[in-house]
Amino acid sequence: IDKLNRDKHLEKEEWVTLLSGYTDDDRAYAAGIAREISNSRFGNKIFIRGIVEFSNVCKNDCYYCGIRRSNTNVQRYRLTPDEILDCCDEGYELGFRTFVLQSGEDKSYTNDTLCDIVRRIKAAHPDCAVTLSLGELTYDEYKALREAGADRYLLRHETADKAHYEKLHPAEMSWDNRMECLKYLKELGYQTGAGIMVGSPYQTAECIAEDMLFFESFKPEMIGIGPFLPHKDTPFRDEPKGSYELTLFLLSLCRILLPDVLLPATTALGTIRPNGREEGVKAGANVIMPNLSPTAVRKKYMLYDNKICTGDESAQCRGCLEMRMKSIGYEVAVSRGDHI
Ligand code: 5AD
Repeated sequence: IDKLNRDKHLEKEEWVTLLSGYTDDDRAYAAGIAREISNSRFGNKIFIRGIVEFSNVCKNDCYYCGIRRSNTNVQRYRLTPDEILDCCDEGYELGFRTFVLQSGEDKSYTNDTLCDIVRRIKAAHPDCAVTLSLGELTYDEYKALREAGADRYLLRHETADKAHYEKLHPAEMSWDNRMECLKYLKELGYQTGAGIMVGSPYQTAECIAEDMLFFESFKPEMIGIGPFLPHKDTPFRDEPKGSYELTLFLLSLCRILLPDVLLPATTALGTIRPNGREEGVKAGANVIMPNLSPTAVRKKYMLYDNKICTGDESAQCRGCLEMRMKSIGYEVAVSRGDHI
């Protein structure tokens, strides 16, 4: 851990050793360093991003995901551009200055429509950042969205190990294309987010070592890490959930590796443990991403079982968050929270 902090690099074998033999003391030690780093960069301020989950229609069939196309138990929904705008307006009033538009890979929204939505949000709220999380698109589509004003893009690589990727996705999906997309996003000047699920089926310490090496070389501005949680209507329904402790440890190690990275304490972390997001912040996370979707659709965007905050209104989530952060000595920042 000291070596990582000093060199901002470990060899693959060193990662494997660290990830397969850590103790609670090691985790606490890493968390202490990570938290010192995030406090030196961000003080006691936590950035918030309002997520609008605007469609749960998806053409993909990822084995882990509750909104995969084969799941016929999902009531599919799509928000209109006006409804999306309304969510952002409400979010603005609540102090959000970043809006994350997330959906399944739903081709019923043309790229022109998506560009229009981005332009309208930026026109209505010029002091806000727009983050997109729409999956794999073409270079030209990413480019048009960037020109329409999108600032950031979240696309988890899921795993840096191609053979592992192929165990999580049907053959029609491609690890090479996923990696190509991430390269495009960086090239186009997006603040780019990659990330993984901790404890996804077939994941080994070697896989995570590769993920850490990928983070080191790609230098994502954002890293999304949460535990894998099974969903009852997927092929992975009987797989064990990921480790809460390992997730926290990895948050700390990511903070140490990339001191300026924007690192959310994810909803999945808050789902696996009631105080998971607070513990995530204490382990080095500096971002929280509450939901701004209309209450009527929240239960339909279930990527995994028992997802938290699906019964609450946006204002309730905002208040709850404020309180949770205060309880551990942190404050919610009203700002875009760009990568430095
Ligand atoms: N458990 C945890 N995370 C999941 N995701 C999708 N399904 C699950 C699950 N069952 C994550 C993926 C995806 C992100 C939007 O949500 O990493 O990239």
